Amino acid sequence: MMNIKPQPGVMKIDLYEGGASQLQGHDEVFKLSSNENPFGPSPRAVEAYSRSGIALHRYPSTSHDQLRLAISTNLDLPSENIVCGVGSDEIISLLCQTFSGQGDEVIYTEHGFAMYKISALAAGATPVIVEEENRTTDVNNILKRCSEKTKLIFIANPNNPTGTMINLNQLQELTNKMPKQALLVLDGAYAEYVDNYDGGVQLVKKTNNVIMIRTFSKIYGLGGMRVGWGFGPKPIIEALQRVRGPFNLSAPALAVAEAAVNDQDYVKKCKEENNTTRAWLINGLRKLGLACDNSFTNFVLPRFENRSQAELCDKYLQSKGFLVRRVDGYNLPEFLRITVGDRSTCERLLGVIEEFLVRQK
Ligand SMILES: Cc1ncc(COP(=O)(O)O)c(C=O)c1O
Repeated sequence: MMNIKPQPGVMKIDLYEGGASQLQGHDEVFKLSSNENPFGPSPRAVEAYSRSGIALHRYPSTSHDQLRLAISTNLDLPSENIVCGVGSDEIISLLCQTFSGQGDEVIYTEHGFAMYKISALAAGATPVIVEEENRTTDVNNILKRCSEKTKLIFIANPNNPTGTMINLNQLQELTNKMPKQALLVLDGAYAEYVDNYDGGVQLVKKTNNVIMIRTFSKIYGLGGMRVGWGFGPKPIIEALQRVRGPFNLSAPALAVAEAAVNDQDYVKKCKEENNTTRAWLINGLRKLGLACDNSFTNFVLPRFENRSQAELCDKYLQSKGFLVRRVDGYNLPEFLRITVGDRSTCERLLGVIEEFLVRQK
């Protein structure tokens, strides 16, 4: 008999499935499965990475001072209200560990990002899944499921994998009406792609129950470096700083993220390119007869007739070297999530999908 047992909840965790990155038999693979920036990071970030190679024997900063200052200067937020983590995944996990445990409830929405459930279970808390309306977060549905046990409410805005979002008035309403012991986590992994949206910065500034989390993995093109951060009320940030590892971010990761956030012109260019190609791609998919919600992100979510057609299209795309993401795990089996690549990749992709649909007739 094995007497060594993990904490309750741990064995209920389904292993996270990342987007596939390899296809046997294909030298040229078009990877559109992980919402990465097709243009990669700013050249300034790549230079910073090379420079960091000369001091690999040195421990990194524990305070993340320089990165926090760079974020603070570029996005106009106080640096003492920022915590940095190994991707926003780590911030999600720290939040669950710090603010929830056995007997507590962690709310997220029906098609919400997978790490919310994983981190809640790892902390011993009970996940509560709230229905969306037409693949969009619904504040009233969330409020109906709040209780005295609710400790955290996760909303990705815009959400992955739906690409949809709700407006600031709806978020403000939620913060006004949610229980006092609960913290709203506004996940802005894709916030930079949205026009006239600050990811929730102003909302955090005027409330005491909201934290915004952000990542360098998407528009900054640094998924491989693993850097994310959170901006929230001082007492929340101070608690998270105590729980995180003192050297959670490596020196190259800190240097690269700092250089990346200092190059906002590059971010702007990537956003413009993405949003133009995304509009073109959605239009093209709709013309092929595939329904597609408006997306506020760097991916789109076309709907097929049924699960079987989505699966066959995925296989056909693979046979032509394209990797996209099945989203059965998000209870969206008749959809495929496709990252917006560069224009020529998207043109080829659309051609392959058209070919597939013609062959089906
Ligand atoms: C909504 C959302 N939040 C958080 C993350 C985690 O990002 P990272 O840990 O790479 O910063 C992702 C990654 O796909 C995401 O889609």
